[in-house]
Amino acid sequence: MKKVTKAATLVLAITMMVCTLTACGGSKDGGTLTFGTNAEFPPFEFVASSGSIGQYDGIDMAIAKQIAEENDMTPAIENMEFESLLVALQNGQIDAVIAGMTVTDERKESADFSIPYYTATQVMIVKEDSDITVATDMADKRICVIQGYTGEICVGDMGYPYESFKKGTDAIMELVNDKCDVVVIDSATAQKYIKDNEGLKIVEDSSAFESEEYAIAVKKGNTELLDKINNVIEKMLSDGTVSELSAKYIETATAE
Ligand code: ARG
Repeated sequence: MKKVTKAATLVLAITMMVCTLTACGGSKDGGTLTFGTNAEFPPFEFVASSGSIGQYDGIDMAIAKQIAEENDMTPAIENMEFESLLVALQNGQIDAVIAGMTVTDERKESADFSIPYYTATQVMIVKEDSDITVATDMADKRICVIQGYTGEICVGDMGYPYESFKKGTDAIMELVNDKCDVVVIDSATAQKYIKDNEGLKIVEDSSAFESEEYAIAVKKGNTELLDKINNVIEKMLSDGTVSELSAKYIETATAE
């Protein structure tokens, strides 16, 4: 029995060597790694004419691509509503979620998270002439948030009424058209929006909004994939790739 196993191992080893040296060496034999995202969140994910993964571009898409490629896999993206992501993960429709997703205790109940790769905070986007300077100034204002985002949770916890939208750009349009006074959303995304829309500014309030960490989610218990993801993230953090990507995608315009 032992001999057979040894022989089989040897055959396998030779096959793998031959494979590496010949045609199959360059192809991605590890299969497809499908990431779920919601491509409505620049600079992390947005639709572009040509992106890192098909039409999807942004910091997260570049990270996803590298994770797949370093594990000899082909990256694929499933674009869906933000609130469907963790359900799709549980259903096995996707292998991982990369969506500028903040790690929260509640989300940790339905998924396992990688090491964090980005630190953000909620900020307030207002018209340039707004008198809002701190979060409590929102008390008597019309507040817009995005459905299912941590910004919605924050404003809800503060006890203020708000209106929620499916997309960041929809909330921004409300603000631009004076139908709302303030949009609460993640910092880097806010920077993109004020770059793309004239007459808006960002108001920060670090005593009201705690810092948040973005991480990749996998199905609970999928330690094999989580380890693969963590190895690549660790490397991309320590060699400066993540900072380079952040700088690149925060600087460049999203609107084409
Ligand atoms: N960081 C926020 C959260 O986790 C917003 C993320 C939105 N991401 C997206 N791809 N739409 O709730």
